[in-house]
Amino acid sequence: MKLLVIVALAALGLTFIVLGSGAYNMAATEKHWAITEKMITWVRESSIKARAEELEVPALDSADMLAKGFKHYHAMCTECHLAPGEQPTELAMGLYPQAPVFYKREPVIDADEKLYLSKKYFWVIKNGLKMTAMPAWGLTHNDEAIWATVAFLHKLPGMTAEQYAAFGETHRDDNLHDHHH
Ligand code: HEC
Repeated sequence: MKLLVIVALAALGLTFIVLGSGAYNMAATEKHWAITEKMITWVRESSIKARAEELEVPALDSADMLAKGFKHYHAMCTECHLAPGEQPTELAMGLYPQAPVFYKREPVIDADEKLYLSKKYFWVIKNGLKMTAMPAWGLTHNDEAIWATVAFLHKLPGMTAEQYAAFGETHRDDNLHDHHH
């Protein structure tokens, strides 16, 4: 028993010495091991699920909501998540972890899956994700603005550059570049 404690303490001490020596490379260019990647994904998805599952999802299909969601997405998200047809920005290329490209994702058909995705998207947009570049937009935006953005995110998978541009055209009159808070 005593020996076990001594070994455990020695291992802990050694860990501190190695970490304190700067051996761990914090660079964004230094990829995680596959096992670390799996751990992070598991912790992230479990954490979001525990906090998002009880959210009440409002109706997300009104034209007004989509128009608002488009404006928020266009103004705040494309630098990292890109717009349909857009090549990666320099900022997006430098990110680690990389920001997912929503327009390249498969559309979700299953109703339950889609409902959970709405909750997950809302929670992540509102609260951000620690140790990634994903900001917490809830500090500066109300829930209504965030649900509108969620509504638009559901439209992105498979959207073409033309369809995205058409959204901009349709809503040009309501001040596309005038991003109010
Ligand atoms: C500065 C870059 C940046 C900006 C701007 C940004 N994001 Fe993100 N976002 C990220 C990164 C990086 C991740 C991936 C984090 C990870 O892998 O854990 C992410 C993840 C997400 C996720 C989780 C996706 C999933 O399925 O796991 C959602 C949803 C999201 N962002 C929505 C948005 C929306 C909506 C906006 C605009 C209001 C936005 N993001 C703006 C960098 C950004």
